[in-house]
Amino acid sequence: MTDEIVVVPGDGIGQEVVPAAREVLEAVGDFEFIEARAGDHVRESEGEALPEETFDLAASADATLFGAAGETAADVVIPLRRAVGSFVNVRPARAYPGVDALKPETDLVFLRENTEGVYGGHEHRLTEDVSTLTRVVTGSASRRLARFACEYAEEGDFEGFTVAHKANVMRETDGRFKEAVETVAEKRGVETEDALMDALAMHLCLHPEEYGVIVCPNLAGDVLSDLAAGLVGGLGLLPSANLGPDRGLFEPVHGTAPDIAGQGVANPSATILSAAMLLDSLGYTDEADAVNGAVEAVLAEGPRTPDLGGDASTDDVTAAVLSRLD
Ligand code: NAI
Ligand code: MG
Repeated sequence: MTDEIVVVPGDGIGQEVVPAAREVLEAVGDFEFIEARAGDHVRESEGEALPEETFDLAASADATLFGAAGETAADVVIPLRRAVGSFVNVRPARAYPGVDALKPETDLVFLRENTEGVYGGHEHRLTEDVSTLTRVVTGSASRRLARFACEYAEEGDFEGFTVAHKANVMRETDGRFKEAVETVAEKRGVETEDALMDALAMHLCLHPEEYGVIVCPNLAGDVLSDLAAGLVGGLGLLPSANLGPDRGLFEPVHGTAPDIAGQGVANPSATILSAAMLLDSLGYTDEADAVNGAVEAVLAEGPRTPDLGGDASTDDVTAAVLSRLD
């Protein structure tokens, strides 16, 4: 049966980079695409940023490709991740040959807890002066992430993984996270090292080559992966996959880039690489490899968008990727 892919461009450069990635998917496979709406512009016209129809489509399709949402990002992305049942956000950050990276030796993968932590939405304004946030960490979500991390490390031939945490301060919540992850890994015979996330941020800047797979609580994964984007040449290069047991949501790490939106110069690489992760999740591994290879070749030889020092347009880069897939 033809795989169904829901396509949600969202706002800003999402409208530019998602069609580019869709073209790439069309070039390598026979999929049924369903366009769906979400984001600031949808809230303006319909009153809510994520129409129920889009949520339902994401919840039932084989995969969803999403661009970005502006101010409404939290109202769109977090429910969409829930729609696909995602429990892990996979965020690779690697420096590509030919790209002027701060740390060309960077080749990292962040496995970010995707359901709880401080992104659970339990925020309250108690008085005029006091606001609170309740952080939820469960052993079950931490163990599920750990099982995924063990499989990821085994399949990818990694020696093990690093567990990022701040259990010296958040003893109960990060303490539980760290212990749950380490216990699963130990039982599976997968090596782990733990790292305090603040010190890890510094070490990643100085010696990214000493790290491979990094397992993180939700907020830490968000922050550390953006830091890694800085090491490899910018947000235009970082893809991500929100994986659930049966389906996934694939999206670039970047946002709507209002400073360049509408100019046709957004770097489509992050979204095309996200499409490659989508292909991989659906079992199209050869096609995923081909797309990754095509993006890598274009990054090495150009054309390049302005964020990478070039003067090419989104369309130029997309056409160059497509021509390498012929
Ligand atoms: P951003 O990722 O949109 O932009 C940060 C910087 O990176 C900007 O200078 C931008 O031009 C550049 N950049 C990002 N992607 C690029 C690409 N593909 N090609 C070339 N340059 C690129 O983050 P920012 O500025 O913090 O947020 C802008 C809006 O996006 C906000 O409204 C925010 O809420 C939203 N956002 C949405 C996300 C989502 O939907 N998943 C994630 C992050 C931010
Ligand atoms: Mg982020």
